[in-house]
Amino acid sequence: MAGDKLIIIGGGRHALELYHLLEELDRSQFIYCFVQDEAAPGLKLQGLPVLDRETVLHQFSSSDDKPKVIGAIGSIPDNKRLINTFEAAGFGFFNAITEDIALKRQKFIGEGVTIAQKSMLTVNVSIMNHAVVNIGCNISHDVVVGEYTQISPGANIAGHVIIEDEVFIGAGVTIIPRIRIGKGAYIAAGACVTKDVPPFTMVAGVPAVIKKYSI
Ligand SMILES: CC(C)(COP(=O)(O)OP(=O)(O)OC[C@H]1O[C@@H](n2cnc3c(N)ncnc32)[C@H](O)[C@@H]1OP(=O)(O)O)[C@@H](O)C(=O)NCCC(=O)NCCS
Repeated sequence: MAGDKLIIIGGGRHALELYHLLEELDRSQFIYCFVQDEAAPGLKLQGLPVLDRETVLHQFSSSDDKPKVIGAIGSIPDNKRLINTFEAAGFGFFNAITEDIALKRQKFIGEGVTIAQKSMLTVNVSIMNHAVVNIGCNISHDVVVGEYTQISPGANIAGHVIIEDEVFIGAGVTIIPRIRIGKGAYIAAGACVTKDVPPFTMVAGVPAVIKKYSI
């Protein structure tokens, strides 16, 4: 039945990581295919087809029982673009969330959200639609993670931090309490963020300083 089917957007390493998260959640058997903009005929990942976007959209165009979709592309603009394409075509989204998370203690968890293994959320956290929290992150109380934002492995986010939409947080980043990270900002790996970060800037270092004003 199509309603049980899952589609992963992406065919690269993030998609592979997501496959393994779903395997641990005992849901990998429901994955119908991976999908990307273009795909060579016969391409496979983990034995499953990697199909091009138009093929999948066409296949389910008149179906009332479309598979559920999740984004797993490392490039935030590409991930967002393909998610939006599937949303416009009437597809819904599913979450892939490690069982370590106490969902009932959180304020809001959106759709199309990934929270990978060994990540912890304390209380009152909001994770907006299509955000990704990669492995081994610690997210403290009252944090907001914006739409399409991606948090790389091993980040530590302190209480009352607001991360706006489409932010990239590199591996091992630390953010101290009550910081706001502006939309589209890019936090380089290993940074310690001690001041608010303006939108669309790149910051790096300990303490983090602005390295680029537009990305
Ligand atoms: C931010 C990043 C993408 C580099 O971006 P970039 O736009 O190519 O930046 P550049 O290499 O031009 O570097 C710009 C400046 O930032 C500095 N810089 C870049 N990354 C840095 C880092 N992680 N820590 C400290 N300084 C860094 C560079 O030394 C350079 O400084 P300078 O202008 O004083 O010489 C990369 O360094 C990074 O941290 N990526 C994170 C990747 C990651 O965590 N991936 C996880 C995927 S699961």
